[in-house]
Amino acid sequence: MNTVANDARAAGARVGLSGDTITINGGSPLTGRIEVKGAKNLVTKAMVAALLGESPSELRDVPDISDVRVVKGLLEVHGVKVEHNVSEGILLLDPAGVESAHMTDIDAHAGSSRIPILFCGPLLHRLGEAFIPDLGGCRIGDRPIDYHLEVLGSFGAVIEKLPTGIRMTAPDGLTGTKISLPYPSVGATEQVLLTAVRAKGKTELSGAAIEPEIMDLINIMQKMGAIISVDTDRVIRIEGVDKLQGYTHRALFDRNEAASWASAALATGGDVFVGGAQQAEMLTFLNIFRKVGGAFEIHDDGIRFYHPGGELKPVVVETDVHPGFMTDWQQPLVVALTKANGVSIVHETVYEQRFGFVDALVKMGANIQLHSECLGGHPCRFGQRNFLHSAVISGPTELHGADIEVPDLRGGFSHLIAALTAQGTSRVSNVGIISRGYGDFITKLRQLGADFVIEGE
Ligand code: EPZ
Repeated sequence: MNTVANDARAAGARVGLSGDTITINGGSPLTGRIEVKGAKNLVTKAMVAALLGESPSELRDVPDISDVRVVKGLLEVHGVKVEHNVSEGILLLDPAGVESAHMTDIDAHAGSSRIPILFCGPLLHRLGEAFIPDLGGCRIGDRPIDYHLEVLGSFGAVIEKLPTGIRMTAPDGLTGTKISLPYPSVGATEQVLLTAVRAKGKTELSGAAIEPEIMDLINIMQKMGAIISVDTDRVIRIEGVDKLQGYTHRALFDRNEAASWASAALATGGDVFVGGAQQAEMLTFLNIFRKVGGAFEIHDDGIRFYHPGGELKPVVVETDVHPGFMTDWQQPLVVALTKANGVSIVHETVYEQRFGFVDALVKMGANIQLHSECLGGHPCRFGQRNFLHSAVISGPTELHGADIEVPDLRGGFSHLIAALTAQGTSRVSNVGIISRGYGDFITKLRQLGADFVIEGE
């Protein structure tokens, strides 16, 4: 079995799936209420930030997802005491006993996660050394780490490539620096933040990513004692300090999960109240949702997403860094676009290969063509490089049930939606991988009236 399937099986076991395959009888709308918790893409980084504190940290609204378990395992092999109250969604992280870990232990706990790269800055400050194994993450293109290594090097880390991974040391400590990112990378911006807050002197980062999850990480670090200012034009300035404390923080909600359930409501002709979702972080998504023909109501405690009846309309969407339309929102939306009357275009500009999931939709009857040209708007950095990064979706099409296999996290959720909208029965394998980022998705599907059976139960 390959690594992805192994991860999926392990993740599946943890979410209460006895196998990693479910059989879905599609064709009925999803209706009801579900709750979203803290954002995967903030919570995992907030856990790493706890390494920088001289006292314990407390993180609330933590989702029950396998990525949290991966980071918990990684923190534990580095000597951090972690208590996870899963039902309350609270993590207590005590970094008093931080110690170096073996590459093999890090590798064993990291699985396919890319998170170990973000441990480097904090570990270099605390221990003077850090290791990273070969990194994975969702299979959506190469996902290189060159920006991360350049960032760490410019703070003064000495980087040594070994056959099993990378070893870093900081014989003279880390010193603030001036960095300009060639692309506003989320991970590289977090790398700068996690390293600069304890570096000697000032750091200036231009070309920074400013996603809400990054802003919430900055909120956390400010609580810890960091001095960070976010200026106009993607410039972040950090004044290094000698000491940081632990934090207490309630994580920002998961806007990617909220958008996924919204698209599921629209594609199935349903009505889903997503408790915990908030308008500000979803502004761009809500505009597109409305243009496609979806309706929503903003409430204090969440957002109701529903299909108001009538035809869905085609749209032209380009994924982009914040405040653009997130790359993690396109896969579930594409399923809804197969129901729209006309030709939609989705131009993926963040990752070069994020349309692998459409093969399954085509197998189910969708009319989707992939192109290597930049369609629908501005040329992007993938235009001249022969990557199939523009999708043309012609609708409306009726999807029919099929045997499909989840390729990655967001593509996997789109497969679930496709199976839920399809006429007939679909067998969806590898679903455990979805629990990397969707807490209790099986329970939530049940709450929304989905008709499915878990194989082996
Ligand atoms: C984060 O990935 C998220 N992951 C992704 O979510 C999300 O899609 C992405 O940001 C964009 O919003 C986590 O937060 C754990 P990047 P990250 O660095 O930080 C290139 C999901 O499904 N790049 O902003 O890895 C890279 O190849 C996931 O929840 C380099 O070239 O993304 C990509 O084209 C998937 N060199 C672009 O930058 C580098 O060293 C943006 O990536 C780093 C990145």
